[in-house]
Amino acid sequence: MRFCFALIAIAFLLPTVSSVSAADDAAVAFKSKVMPVLSAHCTKCHGAEKQKAKLNLGGPRTLEQLSADSKLWFRVMEQIESGAMPPDGEKPLSAAERKAVANWAHGELASGLASVQQKEGRSKFRRLNRSAMAGFAAAHG
Ligand code: HEC
Repeated sequence: MRFCFALIAIAFLLPTVSSVSAADDAAVAFKSKVMPVLSAHCTKCHGAEKQKAKLNLGGPRTLEQLSADSKLWFRVMEQIESGAMPPDGEKPLSAAERKAVANWAHGELASGLASVQQKEGRSKFRRLNRSAMAGFAAAHG
């Protein structure tokens, strides 16, 4: 009986555990893989002192912040992958640095954003459902 209960508990806990670790992964990997590259190549122009294009790419980010700024991070990835940034005359990223950033974007960031979306999607769906029900009740008095 006790064993059975434990299995059920695990089955319920697993989805939460995996989404929590996806969340941690994106922020932790940002700090360990992406931040060093940004500080070496970008924050001189996009940091606390200078903010070209009004961008500050310095400092760590939580998953919530990454998610709120996801469009920015895709633009950053585009600039890096296309080689447009850093601009001419600046030290370009090494192949390893480029790869570390791309791996983060396609790996931890993508799954982190998916886990946020899943959470938000679920609550949006619930809200939607409730207002649809209210509309239905109003229409059918
Ligand atoms: C020597 C200064 C300098 C460095 C170093 C630099 N940038 Fe920029 N960046 C600029 C300037 C100036 C602009 C605005 C004008 C432009 O787009 O060229 C800009 C614009 C941008 C934009 C906005 C473009 C858009 O799509 O809105 C992004 C994103 C960006 N940089 C990312 C980066 C990243 C990532 C790095 C490091 C890999 C980096 N930059 C390094 C000077 C710099």
